Order: sequence, then C-alpha cells, then structure tokens
Amino acid sequence: MQKLPVAILGATGLVGQRLVQLLAAHPWFEISALAASDNSVGKQYGDAAKWKLPSEIPDAVRGMIVKPCEPPLDAALVFSALPSDVAGDIEENFANAGYLVSSNASNHRNDPDVPLVIAEVNSDHLDLVRVQRARRKSAGAIVCNANCSTIHLALVLKPLADAFGLTRVAVTTLQALSGAGYPGVAALDILDNVIPFIGGEEKKLESEPLKILGTLHGDHIAPAAIRISAACNRVATWDGHLETASVELAQKSSLDQVRRAMLQFTGEPQALNLPTAPAHPIVVRDEPDRPQPRLDRDVEKGMASVVGRLRACPVLDYKFVLLGHNTIRGAAGGTLLNAELLVAKKFIE
Ligand SMILES: NC(=O)c1ccc[n+]([C@@H]2O[C@H](COP(=O)([O-])OP(=O)(O)OC[C@H]3O[C@@H](n4cnc5c(N)ncnc54)[C@H](OP(=O)(O)O)[C@@H]3O)[C@@H](O)[C@H]2O)c1
Repeated sequence: MQKLPVAILGATGLVGQRLVQLLAAHPWFEISALAASDNSVGKQYGDAAKWKLPSEIPDAVRGMIVKPCEPPLDAALVFSALPSDVAGDIEENFANAGYLVSSNASNHRNDPDVPLVIAEVNSDHLDLVRVQRARRKSAGAIVCNANCSTIHLALVLKPLADAFGLTRVAVTTLQALSGAGYPGVAALDILDNVIPFIGGEEKKLESEPLKILGTLHGDHIAPAAIRISAACNRVATWDGHLETASVELAQKSSLDQVRRAMLQFTGEPQALNLPTAPAHPIVVRDEPDRPQPRLDRDVEKGMASVVGRLRACPVLDYKFVLLGHNTIRGAAGGTLLNAELLVAKKFIE
C-alpha cells in the first residue's frame, strides 16, 4: 500500500512532537508537511522544535522546513495540535478547503455535526462526517479527539454504560504537567505543590463524555443521560493523568461483573486490527497500589487506560483509580487511531 501523505499543524509543540514520533515509522501514513506559528515558519524542524521526547528527532523530518498553518499543504489528512486560541479558524479553513482534519483542540468538539470520537467507544459517530461534508459542500471535515482526561474516563465508562447503564459519576483528576503544553506551568508554582484548578477542564470532563457516550440520530448526537461531577488538579508528574472515580450503575451488578466488563472490552480498532490499536484498551491491575503514573503510563505503548483499586463505594456503587497517558492516548495517539479508522472505514481513499 502506498503511504498517505499527512501534515501536522502545531508540529513543534508537545502533542505535535508526539505525532511526529508516532508517525515516523507508521505503516500507512507518511509526514509530508509540518506547520507551526510565525516563530517557526521557514526554519528547519530540528531547529524550530524544542524537542522534549527521549527518542531522537526522526531523520526524515529534522531538515523539513516548517510551513504556515494555512492551505494548501501537500496532504490527504491534516492532524491539528494547535492551541485553542487559534485552532478554531485554522481547522475551519482546512476543512472548507477539502481536508480531513483530525484534531486535538477543543474548539469544534461541541459542533453538532463534528464527531467527538474515541475509536473503541463511538466509531459509529464518524457518520457525521457525511453530514459535515454536505454542509461544507466539500470533501473536508473535522473529527475531534476529546480532552485528555475525558478520553481515559469515557473509555473506562463505556463498558459499564453498555453492560449496566450509568447514572452518576464523581471523578477527581491528578493531571500531569505535560498536559499544559510547553513551557506550561512555572516550576516555582508547581514544585512542592498541587494546583486545585485547571481552566475549563472540569466543564469538559462533565460534558464531553455525554456526547461520546450519546446516540447518533441522523445528523446529531443525543447526549447520554449521565450526571458527572469533576474536580481537576495539576500535580508535578511529567506524563500520565491519574483519576479517581466513583460510579452509580442503573442495574445493580457484582464487583466481578464490573471487573470482567472492563477486562473484556474491545472495539472496532481491535476488530479491524488498526496499527495503533492497543490489544487491550483497558488494562485492569489487582495490586493495592497501582496504577501509578511512572510505572503504568506506557502500558500498551501509552494507548491503554489502566484501572486499579476497583472496590465498593459506600456512596455510589463502585470506585476505582484510572490512569492514562495524556499526550499519547489522550492526544496524539488518539487522533492517530481516529485517522486510521477514517482510512479503514473508507472516508479517505
Ligand atoms: N498536552 C496534552 O497533554 C494535550 C492533551 C490533549 C489535547 N491537547 C491539546 O492539543 C493542542 C496542542 O497542545 P500542546 O500541549 O502540544 O501545546 P504546545 O506545546 O503549546 O504547542 C502548540 C503548537 O501550536 C503552535 N502555534 C501556537 N500558536 C500558533 C499560531 N498562532 N499559529 C500557528 N501555530 C501556532 C506552536 O508553534 P510554535 O512552536 O511555532 O510556537 C506549537 O507547534 C491544544 O489544543 C491542547 O489543548 C493537549
């Protein structure tokens, strides 16, 4: 199969770098263009990106000249890793110019005909691409990835919603520094500290799962009837968001049934054997002190959500800890899996 050319908008940032890393040896996609802000345009990628990953910058991109974030770019699909203060209009421009945009940014997540997709959870929502294409009168469309904490929460809630129904969820997050982008939070603010506020995050965590776990009705999604209460904290880990959650189920079930529903969960990416799909999207650990960010964030190459401490909750029904890599499954890897799904489901020929 000839590789499809893909471009990355915001290629020099933390999520953009993860995309570069994940795409370097991808069997279906080949990086054909890298784009970023005026500070980087015209420079070689190796000079423009403040590379923060432990692996080297791939040789194939080191000397590529960074382009402006505007069409045309030589690409069949565009990944967006742009900050939300600029992503909205730039992604619109690309979609209206005929490009499929697989986005990490929050701007279009609530647009009625923009699918908000976690590949294992709601791949059927990709049918909204057809609705969007008709509205735009173009082959272009935006497909959004959810917020990094939402992705791991909704992935873990999905088998529970399917098997038992979900009524209420309370979640508290301990979110890593890389979730704030680079340079992110000042060292003097976060060392020896926890910051109990992340702007806009709680609203996203309380609303995005409702669209993701909702039902496609033709040209829109009917949201799931679940009430979620979220509290978000920034902590001094580098990668990996930890979340503690309590859930109330519609249909009472045993602890073992809940555990098995999580363990056995797979979705369309596994059925289609997509290159970036984890074999087990939810990994369940039984030790009393796992998951931990440093030990467990790279399980399944950072593409799984790791659940532990599953136990009865005296207020709701069950409670557990979940952990997920924020820049891989929670961002770059999530948009990559969505792009693979778009190819496998023939939205890109
Ligand atoms: N970090 C995470 O864990 C995470 C998780 C999920 C979603 N997200 C979302 O992913 C997006 C990227 O996040 P990040 O953490 O990678 O941010 P980041 O490290 O701050 O990178 C931002 C990127 O956007 C480019 N950029 C900034 N202003 C621009 C402009 N006016 N025009 C064109 N390009 C511009 C930057 O280019 P220069 O280098 O040239 O300035 C850089 O490449 C955000 O929407 C974020 O909310 C992040």
